[in-house]
Amino acid sequence: MYAPMSSERFPKALNEQIGYEFAASQQYVAIAVHYDAETLPQLARFFYRQALEERDHAMMMVQYLIDADADAVIPGVTAPQTTFDDIVAPVALALEQEKRVSEQINGLAAAAREAGDYTSEQFMQWFIKEQVEEVATMSDLLRVVERSKDDPMEIENFVAREHPGEAGEDPTAPHPAGAA
Ligand SMILES: [Fe+2]
Ligand SMILES: [Fe+2]
Repeated sequence: MYAPMSSERFPKALNEQIGYEFAASQQYVAIAVHYDAETLPQLARFFYRQALEERDHAMMMVQYLIDADADAVIPGVTAPQTTFDDIVAPVALALEQEKRVSEQINGLAAAAREAGDYTSEQFMQWFIKEQVEEVATMSDLLRVVERSKDDPMEIENFVAREHPGEAGEDPTAPHPAGAA
């Protein structure tokens, strides 16, 4: 059990972030379904997996609020974009989303620090590192998709080669609520 949070601002902001993470998860499901319908199974698989990761992020934040004896309020989410003009658009949207989340996560860390809530600031450190990786991954993918947009099989091969499946368990990751 963590010490009670010293400020109302951080839990409130973290609750908002839970909504953004669930919205990101829904957006990635929508992107995966789009690629699935286009018979681009590797891109689809990649985004289905990203969707699960975003859900985990939300559930890690839920667990943190529960452990801190703060209210965890599960929000509704804004509907995702479900139609896309071409093979590039979903990845461009994904990169935009990851950049926005990086700013939100940095803002959360700053809010915790300002409140003198170093436990929460430390909790945010894992997400800061995660966002650096996710922005880098989406930037790389966007470059590949733009370069090979007329040759989707080239993109599929890249995703199969560079993102073959489950990354190993990250022992430093916070625990998602309800996970084994
Ligand atoms: Fe996330
Ligand atoms: Fe993400």
